[in-house]
Amino acid sequence: MSKLPEYAKHIASKVDEFIYETVKGSPELLYNASLHYVKAGGKRLRPLITVLSCRVCGGNEDLAVPGAAAIEILHTFTLIHDDIIDRDELRRGVPTVHKLWGEDIAIIAGDTLHAYAYKCLLRALERGAKPESVLRAFNHLIESAIVVAEGQTLDLLLSRKETASIDEYLEMVEKKTASLMIGSALIGASLAGAPPEIENRLREAMKAAGIAFQIRDDILGLLGDEKVLGKPVLSDLREGKRTILVIYTLSVVDEMKKRKLLSVLGKRDASIDELREAAEIIKSCGAVEYADKIAEEYAKKALELINSIETRDLEARELLKELVQFMIRRRY
Ligand code: IPE
Ligand code: IPE
Ligand code: MG
Ligand code: MG
Repeated sequence: MSKLPEYAKHIASKVDEFIYETVKGSPELLYNASLHYVKAGGKRLRPLITVLSCRVCGGNEDLAVPGAAAIEILHTFTLIHDDIIDRDELRRGVPTVHKLWGEDIAIIAGDTLHAYAYKCLLRALERGAKPESVLRAFNHLIESAIVVAEGQTLDLLLSRKETASIDEYLEMVEKKTASLMIGSALIGASLAGAPPEIENRLREAMKAAGIAFQIRDDILGLLGDEKVLGKPVLSDLREGKRTILVIYTLSVVDEMKKRKLLSVLGKRDASIDELREAAEIIKSCGAVEYADKIAEEYAKKALELINSIETRDLEARELLKELVQFMIRRRY
């Protein structure tokens, strides 16, 4: 029996407790909007990466909790702004922040969480983390925040082009998605005082895992069950996103199908039938199988890299590997 689900719950409750203890103030409206997604659910994958990376590097889980909370809060900030950018109305099974409170409050809620992410990490000092370790962790948190913004911009720029290459896609997802997974691991490693060699291996592992995770996300955005997923399906097509599925499809289908798909991509008022027709073109050309194969390759690479890290905490290393497997096999 896998210990991962139990352990994930245990860490999520510690991290949530820390978040609620740290992120509070007035006016109430701002905090209700800021904590809306935290209360709604979410997988809490990034905190788990932080805690397990800290353990693999010889630290204990309580030392990692402020860093884990910091990255989850940074992630939550990006989700609030991402939902405005992507015009989505559902997240974690609830209406999006901008849908409930308006774009103005949603923008401020995101800004607020961005600042609280740093505040969470600063509190690592209260748990006895060394100031130089906390400083290194800050460097990784800041880097993640910068790179995710670059990635979100690339995501938009690609959606405005007719075609995109797989290399452009990989650069975009490494920045928009893997950056936070990398940050999660490196914050945990820094708080444990890990040597640079282990940090490098974790960086490469999480880069591969993050890319695999986003490919899976693209697939779920086409084939997923909205109720299980808690977010809309087919909205990537409406917004003209150059997902790996779209890139592959545009490169293999005949001219007629290509024109059809391009006419729906980015069409904000596309009907559900038009979106389904576009989805059908993607499904019938083997794009999902292709994307699955690439995700598996990246996941394999991530697993090999994690396996190559020497550690005394073999349990933590096993859990980290299981987590990577979950990241690409998930249905939500
Ligand atoms: C959603 O991330 C954003 C992406 C990078 C695709 P998650 O799928 O981890 O979202 P939550 O935290 O579980 O809601
Ligand atoms: C994921 O963006 C990356 C960030 C939120 C920064 P997406 O737009 O691809 O993810 P979902 O599908 O909305 O979660
Ligand atoms: Mg989105
Ligand atoms: Mg987006």
